[in-house]
Amino acid sequence: MSDSENPLALADFSQRHAEAVAEDQFRMRWSPRSMSGQALTMEQLQTLCEAGRWAPSCFNSQPWRFIYALPGTPQWQPMFDLLMDVNQLWAAKAGALVALVARTHFEANDAPAATHSFDAGAAWMSMALQAQSMGLAAHAMWGFHHDQAAQALNLGEHFATQAMIAFGHRAAADELPEPLREREMPSPRKPLEQLMFAGTHP
Ligand SMILES: Cc1cc2nc3c(=O)[nH]c(=O)nc-3n(C[C@H](O)[C@H](O)[C@H](O)COP(=O)(O)O)c2cc1C
Repeated sequence: MSDSENPLALADFSQRHAEAVAEDQFRMRWSPRSMSGQALTMEQLQTLCEAGRWAPSCFNSQPWRFIYALPGTPQWQPMFDLLMDVNQLWAAKAGALVALVARTHFEANDAPAATHSFDAGAAWMSMALQAQSMGLAAHAMWGFHHDQAAQALNLGEHFATQAMIAFGHRAAADELPEPLREREMPSPRKPLEQLMFAGTHP
């Protein structure tokens, strides 16, 4: 299927060239910023978290937690206020914000869980691909005030913020403020030859 016939290709994919055969969903996933402001339904949000829930994790510890806010609800403003200005510029039109939080210690014995971020990252990717299959945008953000998040999100001991995720209904690139408009397209990747090595790192 050519990109122009592919329903996932609602953008200019000219910077993304496949080097080997893999499912289109991987090359077609990207992080749009332009969203319409329409709130997601609870059903949509549950579907996204359901996808995240099935991610693999060390000892099946499932360290991820999904703390959400929908626009127009009392939870929205406190979570939105955590975002750095540069992200507030566009995430104001998100249809949901999800703070992805991970338990840093195993529940079973309170020992440090070295893979908590790795595991939470797997959940994020599952959610991102689920969003894409629903025709929704998913955009992760590190740019928020992590130091204030623990209090704002009521995180107890042994929980650490991993990312804030904006989910939303797509909108046209020209609805973004000027500096972001021209970046509203799928980005390229390093070639496989710079990433794949037999046996040892060069
Ligand atoms: C953990 C993480 C943190 C990110 N933080 C931000 C952010 O604060 N603001 C932003 O606009 N994009 C952020 N991004 C989006 C990345 O810039 C984007 O994923 C990357 O450029 C690759 O583009 P793509 O997702 O469209 O393929 C983040 C992505 C990840 C995975």
